[in-house]
Amino acid sequence: MVQRSADSDELAERVAAHLISRLARIQQHGRVPSIALTGGSIAVKIHETVAESPDRHLVDWGHVDFWFGDERFVPAADPERNARQVRTAMLDHLPVDSARVHEMPAADGRHAGDLDAAAAEYAQQVRTLGSGEFHVVMLGIGEDGHVASLFPGFPQLDVDDTIAVAVRNSPKPPPERLSLTFSALERTRELWFVASGAGKAEAVRRAMDPATDVHEVPASRPRGRQRTFWFLDEEAASQL
Ligand code: 6PG
Repeated sequence: MVQRSADSDELAERVAAHLISRLARIQQHGRVPSIALTGGSIAVKIHETVAESPDRHLVDWGHVDFWFGDERFVPAADPERNARQVRTAMLDHLPVDSARVHEMPAADGRHAGDLDAAAAEYAQQVRTLGSGEFHVVMLGIGEDGHVASLFPGFPQLDVDDTIAVAVRNSPKPPPERLSLTFSALERTRELWFVASGAGKAEAVRRAMDPATDVHEVPASRPRGRQRTFWFLDEEAASQL
């Protein structure tokens, strides 16, 4: 389902409203929402918009489980870290329960220098603390068609027997990252792509084309079990 917005501001408003509405509805059904967030610039704008939304009080933020689709393997305080950006933009402004914010390990944590051990630890966290299925997975899209830290031509695209993987020599800096695998990203009721700008238009078009090879455009694979949304501004949707 493609949801077009005029520009990135309207896109952020639309996604923020959709997220608040979805979380509130899940809670009205007596469940604890489990969402996996993404990094990148449009995601930051969305997070900021959620934190400023006049409707944010509709969600009991202390009963939301926050997960991450990927992370840059840098020190916890590094501005490049997705979790830090999510906290600065959104979580620090909402009454979340810190025990329900499940960050991926940082490079200066107990797995310093051991990317594979860090990935294994997060996989274990998802297995033991997760509910077995996300309600929403949000994914930005790179101009090369990557999602999370799953990049074109990388071996992690074919890893389906685990939840999280180490990524080295990432074409998008920083070079060392952690990422959920496709099989983990697809264990979600809804998958939301968010993309803004003309630079994403070709990747979006190819991602939506069933003939596209996942090894060329990783965004062509993950879909939600119930629904998949494409939140696009006009520029990112311009080749559809
Ligand atoms: C990351 C993100 C990455 C991002 C896309 C889009 O760690 O960088 O998880 O997958 O979502 O690269 O980023 P932009 O919205 O900044 O283009």
